[in-house]
Amino acid sequence: MSRFFVDPDIKKAETLAADFYTDPANFEISKEKIFARSWQFLTGGHDIGEVTPMTLLPGVLDEPVVVVRTAGSTTCLSNVCTHRGKILVEEPCSADLIRCRYHGRRFALDGRMISMPEFEGVENFPNRSDDLTKLPFAEIGGFLFASVSPSCEFSDWVEGVEGLFDHDATTGLVLTGRREYEVNAHWALYCENYLEGFHIPYVHKGLNAVVDYGSYRTDMFRYSSVQTAFSGEELRADRAAARYLFLFPNLMFNFYPWGISVNIVRPVTHEKTVVEFLTYVRDENLLEKGAGADLHTVEMEDEAVVESVQKGIRSRFYRHGRYSATKEQGTHHFHRLIAEFMSKA
Ligand code: FES
Ligand SMILES: [Fe+2]
Repeated sequence: MSRFFVDPDIKKAETLAADFYTDPANFEISKEKIFARSWQFLTGGHDIGEVTPMTLLPGVLDEPVVVVRTAGSTTCLSNVCTHRGKILVEEPCSADLIRCRYHGRRFALDGRMISMPEFEGVENFPNRSDDLTKLPFAEIGGFLFASVSPSCEFSDWVEGVEGLFDHDATTGLVLTGRREYEVNAHWALYCENYLEGFHIPYVHKGLNAVVDYGSYRTDMFRYSSVQTAFSGEELRADRAAARYLFLFPNLMFNFYPWGISVNIVRPVTHEKTVVEFLTYVRDENLLEKGAGADLHTVEMEDEAVVESVQKGIRSRFYRHGRYSATKEQGTHHFHRLIAEFMSKA
């Protein structure tokens, strides 16, 4: 099924067919084809203790996991008891082992089942399926990611953008704020708006006064893209005012002089999305300066335009559009990835 096709040549390409957004069946299919096969953000490793229960992409994957940090390593395990399915760890804690509170099955912190009461005589027990599944897991710059069944290695997923998470950018970050925005629009409409700076002069008057639109640049990698915005002053100093990293399908890491704003786009339905903003600050003094200041106003402007598109794409007269070959490379790249993932067997 390659119903979703986007021409690799942006000059020839038409945008993704509108029914990708409007048909609830495609939304359901995208959960397994796109979200289960991609890498998802768990948390900043700076923010958690030894044994931490979490949900991988709530509302979409809803996968209960537990992140275990020991002196030597960090792992991400299924948080579901292999006996009859109870959630194992309910609260963050420190522990030497994990014990199920239903019938007492015990697991080592590496997921191995170590004991089970009243199972004498049970055949072929224990075997490997009694251990907790270890999820594919990765860490970069102190941020933790996991996946249900990734279509690629984490290193391939971040290929070309690892440098953004280098020591200078990610040391000394403190999580100072967490905020959720509810947007009445399909998740991909929210992402594709993020992926182009084309709309800045029209939609974001305040931001437009700060960034030098002419020097705005988009670089594409296999599963990600980076938009770089300069202000006039920073352009001369060759320092970016902001770098906007998008990791397919739904993660945004915005690098500002003050630190990093992480946005996790969480689909709720085919016409509702929650966007979680996590603010990691390194230098408070720079918070109100430049492109990283007043993110709330920019967000409200983006939401208004994205919600308007949500109404527009339902029109009988709208099927798809075309791309600006110089300003919409990021959106084209995103649509190509959606078409690729939706077409996989
Ligand atoms: S469900 Fe965990 S021991 Fe029974
Ligand atoms: Fe915007």
